[in-house]
Amino acid sequence: MEEAQTLLAAARSVVVLTGAGVSAESGIPTFRGDEGLWKSYRPERLATPEAFASDPRLVWEWYAWRRELVATRSPHSGHVALARLCQDRPGVRLVTQNVDGLHARAASEIGSGAAPPLELHGSLFRVRCTACRYRAPHTASVDSGTVETLPRCPECGGLLRPAVVWFGESLDAAVVAEAFRAAEEAEVCLVVGTSAVVQPAAALPLSTLRTGGAVIEVNPVPTPLSQVAEVVLRGPAGELLPPLVEGALA
Ligand code: OAD
Repeated sequence: MEEAQTLLAAARSVVVLTGAGVSAESGIPTFRGDEGLWKSYRPERLATPEAFASDPRLVWEWYAWRRELVATRSPHSGHVALARLCQDRPGVRLVTQNVDGLHARAASEIGSGAAPPLELHGSLFRVRCTACRYRAPHTASVDSGTVETLPRCPECGGLLRPAVVWFGESLDAAVVAEAFRAAEEAEVCLVVGTSAVVQPAAALPLSTLRTGGAVIEVNPVPTPLSQVAEVVLRGPAGELLPPLVEGALA
């Protein structure tokens, strides 16, 4: 812990990469592992453009369930610690694979004016039109009872879909470019709660390493990144991030 605090305190530029594990202690299921979503749900039926084209009601039902779940949960001390780090240190950029919006909620809880997190995989609380270029925030509850009750585009009447990245889809190029720029400039990449197997997110810490920076990993179990990390903190984000950030900001 002391080594990680020292590294983080000395770094002028930091990129933080988070995955589903950072929200596990808020009661939001991760994707892989014994309790993961992909154990009970088939991604190809729920998280692909083909799945949406063939059964938009089923896909919306799953996303509406996840939105409702997230809406009843709150950011925990680990999210708040990261929000503090971003607020106090202008050189820190937060990049997340999560679509749950909990980093932004933690930032707003502490009244942070830091740049919002870069959401590589989109957001549960945004929609986009399947027929035109319309995109917007969307927090209203979705009636997924029938295809007729699904949300429609106010501009063209097309079917709206969650603005998340599905399997087989490309990420937003501008968001990816900004994330890689931050990773390349970073002296430290702090990686929290990701299995580090999904690209291109998994390559971000490697960019930091390639340009001479160091990786700190926070995860209860080993990942492919553990071997190349300068420091590995084994344990849950909610327990480890508050002392890590407190030490780095002291
Ligand atoms: P995963 O579910 O693959 O991995 C979650 C990671 O969090 C694992 O390495 C766990 O060990 C770790 N973990 C669990 N509890 C934790 C805790 N309390 N504190 C810290 N770490 C903990 O989730 P991601 O790596 O985020 O993509 O998955 C990446 C992408 O794969 C997701 O964004 C999603 C999924 O398919 C799309 O849907 C496009």
